[in-house]
Amino acid sequence: MGNKIGLIGFGVVGQGYYEIANKDGKNLKPQHIAVKSKEKERPKGISFQYDLEALLADSEIGVELISETETAYFIAKKLLESGKTVISANKKLVAKHLPELLELERAHGGKFLYEAAVAASIPVLSNISTQYQGDQIEEIQGILNGSSNYILSKIQQENQNFEEALKQAQDNGYAEADPSFDINGSDVASKLCILAAHSYGIHLDEKSIPCIGIDHLQAEDFSLAKKVGGKIKLIALSSVKDGDVSASIFPTLVGPNHPLSQVENEYNAISILSKNIGLQNFQGKGAGGLATGSAVYSDLAKSSSGFKYTLVENGLKKQYAAPASSEHQF
Ligand code: HSE
Repeated sequence: MGNKIGLIGFGVVGQGYYEIANKDGKNLKPQHIAVKSKEKERPKGISFQYDLEALLADSEIGVELISETETAYFIAKKLLESGKTVISANKKLVAKHLPELLELERAHGGKFLYEAAVAASIPVLSNISTQYQGDQIEEIQGILNGSSNYILSKIQQENQNFEEALKQAQDNGYAEADPSFDINGSDVASKLCILAAHSYGIHLDEKSIPCIGIDHLQAEDFSLAKKVGGKIKLIALSSVKDGDVSASIFPTLVGPNHPLSQVENEYNAISILSKNIGLQNFQGKGAGGLATGSAVYSDLAKSSSGFKYTLVENGLKKQYAAPASSEHQF
């Protein structure tokens, strides 16, 4: 079996991964790159192809970095059904189809890694998979969207207006192709769903997670937060008790001593509370081409040394989310 790598998509993350692979000497550069649009201007010196099926047939490893969920699903399914490796950064794909894709991975002996889908540079999924053996994760709290955190920082620290800050988040390559997913909380819901699956072995329907994004915030909300010495942060919260998962995503007023209060700009942070370890905090860049491309590249390197996630020894249970209790203030 060869080790041909096919890259699908050459947007911000695809270019980030390509740049890292090009500089590093591990032979993890894609042999083929498939893109959709023939019209778009592309970098010189790199050859692109437009026949997706041919690329999939020709590759042993597919690095799927596109934004459309259903095409990504088609790609992942096709590769996993052939026992191949899929590396993805697509949180909508993972959140929606995780149980089926993991089952395909198991049935055909392929590999499915998607560290870049949650909090970009932060190796939280691999960490949960390897460092929480014999433990039980009870709560997760975090800032999981770089663009909305960037916008909140620019508004609250530099008095910028919403549109200006969003435009900068887009120009910096933090925002989704459709930025409404960033500002309405939907991107966070996908990530929380993946984190819950890894933490509790329970697959939530992301649409059932109560969710308010930053798009409803008004100037008065920021004034009030400032007046009381706090800040507004978009906080995802989840906990599990007796097999029941609670999850929610809300803009939240935090005081200066709150662990997430100093997380600014495109940074993400995740606090995990577990029985054996207690509280453990992760923080790092949650968006951007190199930060996300680095997670993709590391997945590729890990896959060649046999790494797999271990979250589903007994399959994922399905569950729908109920509102998270507000008594969890860790
Ligand atoms: N649009 C996402 C964000 C990219 O801003 O967090 C990383 O998932």
